[in-house]
Amino acid sequence: MRVLVTGGAGFIGSAVIQELDRAGHQSVIIDSFRADVHAGDVPRSGLHRGSARFGPSSGPLIVADIRDHEAVTAAVVGVDAVVHLAAKVGLGVDLDDLEDYVSSNDLGTAVLLRAMARAGIGRLVLAGSMVVYGEGAYACAEHGPVVPAPRLESDLLSGHFEPPCPVCGQALSPGLVSEDAALDPRNGYAATKLHQEHLCAVWARETGGTVAALRFHNVYGPGMPRDTPYAGVAAIFRSALERGAAPTVLEDGKQRRDFVEVTDVARAVVAALTPREPIPAVRAYNIGSGRVGTIGELATLLAATMGGPPPVVTGGYRLGDVRHVTASSERAARELGWRARVSLMDGVRAFADAPMRL
Ligand code: UD1
Repeated sequence: MRVLVTGGAGFIGSAVIQELDRAGHQSVIIDSFRADVHAGDVPRSGLHRGSARFGPSSGPLIVADIRDHEAVTAAVVGVDAVVHLAAKVGLGVDLDDLEDYVSSNDLGTAVLLRAMARAGIGRLVLAGSMVVYGEGAYACAEHGPVVPAPRLESDLLSGHFEPPCPVCGQALSPGLVSEDAALDPRNGYAATKLHQEHLCAVWARETGGTVAALRFHNVYGPGMPRDTPYAGVAAIFRSALERGAAPTVLEDGKQRRDFVEVTDVARAVVAALTPREPIPAVRAYNIGSGRVGTIGELATLLAATMGGPPPVVTGGYRLGDVRHVTASSERAARELGWRARVSLMDGVRAFADAPMRL
């Protein structure tokens, strides 16, 4: 199969290209090498016949923005399926980022979908995100499953990090979020990740195509970009430790996340491209390790593995953060035959040793 990977030069994209190679598929990359993610050796715009210098694949590399109609129209020619990873990621800094999230993620997806429709491509795998859920799954001892409201800044300031039951205000127990959970994006990035899913569903209905939206949980691993305001927490911790500094843990470090290693994520993408059984035309899948971890645990493990100073728990916060979100990835196991394989211990060891991307 010939697969176009948008954002194929990025952190997850590079791992996907490697996995496609391993599975015997051909790949074509379109990537803009955006300046807030890529530094150093950035190729010039246009078509490069081989991309080996900039990534693991020897397939064509098109250096262009996903919003560039002409480039995207050329990129989809002769392609059987598309993996759409190109996006502006992360929580962002403030509302000044909002236009860029909407433009890069929503408009970029629209340009791609139009080109795919015109070229008659029927299979799409979208990089979704667990951020579409907002807070994860919670239950109140008295009121059962509940959806907590966004946390108040006054609560965060006074160190009350756990969201209370919206009915009685009592403490809640966090659980595993399934794909049927209510969707409740709580920052600009999250809103665009949900909108991308909606746009892809429109495309699928109009064209008869199929889309698998893979809602990645916290992806980490070799090739993660260095510390930027848009980087995930594992990259921020790793960059601090490399400088000899302690990782700084926000809140109390007990925030729960599901850390999934990038090679497992790449396998999930290829599994979604080639499902063993036919899957519904529009389908979302959680892609998590299935293991509940905490931010404090990740910081401690990474610091110990790198022989660096232990983490400092600051009690600080970011208003757009949710408290807990961990996944049930059973649907992906059932329908795609995919399960994560890399343990946190092994994954962190490989991550600690591998170079980060400039
Ligand atoms: C992350 C990604 C998001 C992606 C999602 C699923 C970022 C910024 N977020 O969301 O793009 O869609 O995974 O793959 O890339 N924290 C610290 N210290 C720090 C920074 C953060 O303790 O220096 C804490 C935060 O308060 C938060 C947790 O780490 O509780 C996770 O933060 P982060 O990785 O940034 O965001 P997620 O919401 O998990």
